[in-house]
Amino acid sequence: MFKADKFIDETVKSLKKDISGKALIAFSGGVDSTVCAALVNKAIGKDLIAVHVDTGYMRKNESSDVKKLMERMGLNYRFVDASEEFYNDLKGVVDPEKKRKIIGEKFIRVFEKVAKQEKIEYLVQGTIAPDWIESGDSLRDNIKSHHNVGGLPEKMDLKLVEPLRDLYKDEVRKVARELKIEISERQPFPGPGLAVRIIGEATPERTEIVREACFITEKEIEKAVEKGEMEMPWQYFAVLLPVKSVGVQGDRRAYGYVIGIRAVQSIDAMTCTYSKIPHEVLEKISIRITNSMKDKVNRVVYDITDKPPGTVEWE
Ligand code: XMP
Repeated sequence: MFKADKFIDETVKSLKKDISGKALIAFSGGVDSTVCAALVNKAIGKDLIAVHVDTGYMRKNESSDVKKLMERMGLNYRFVDASEEFYNDLKGVVDPEKKRKIIGEKFIRVFEKVAKQEKIEYLVQGTIAPDWIESGDSLRDNIKSHHNVGGLPEKMDLKLVEPLRDLYKDEVRKVARELKIEISERQPFPGPGLAVRIIGEATPERTEIVREACFITEKEIEKAVEKGEMEMPWQYFAVLLPVKSVGVQGDRRAYGYVIGIRAVQSIDAMTCTYSKIPHEVLEKISIRITNSMKDKVNRVVYDITDKPPGTVEWE
């Protein structure tokens, strides 16, 4: 059985040995990077610099919430708004693997810039087992290149430290609870963010649509869970499809995007089953999305695919 307290003691000890100097942590505010930051902070304190990058593909209010979280954790942090650069680099890119590689590389270039300015030698990442298993190697097929593995450029100036590399998500949560991390139960959010929830080109305009759809989906599901109408899914969000369909808004013809809703139950992200959400909740999500973006979205569908054969994210 996985023992979180033992893992914490041993990891902090080896981090103290392995890191001599300043380290930078890629801090997304998710469970993995937050646990990682707490462990490295225990080992090297202020020599750890947490860097949060607003890629432009974050959820509504997410980057400002992450900033507050870094403050509450007492981290030595930097905040970088790189949204324009990310949008520019993804202009015209539609292939999911290309998108992931560009995002992974861009992250590293941003971190390298901060590292150079502050004379940092180490890069800490909250990579966990499914990230590198699914990114593939000489023994395994590449399912998708997780941004923090397959997205890494071949040439990188920083030394990589990945304390959670052998852990699965349920084990990371155990460590988070042991460390009393306030966001230990937070649903996962992929590093490439909303860019992999926009099928096709991730333009700023499409990003705004999926950002709003994700926000509504999260709020309606959380409300239903609070009222006891359904069980909390492991992960729940919206995706924007690259097709338009004909509909009617009031008495006028509409031609708008299709939003897909995805909600799954899982333990370790390696497999999942789709959540059996009550139709009433799905209906509320659908009405709210189509009402709030009348001229942009006129159809909402629900994804009833398990993993396998699907994956959690659509790209
Ligand atoms: P998939 O889509 O591979 O997702 O079934 C499994 C879990 O991993 C998350 N995910 C990512 N997390 N970087 C991450 O940090 C990534 O590039 C990435 N891609 C997917 C996904 O949200 C799910 O929880």
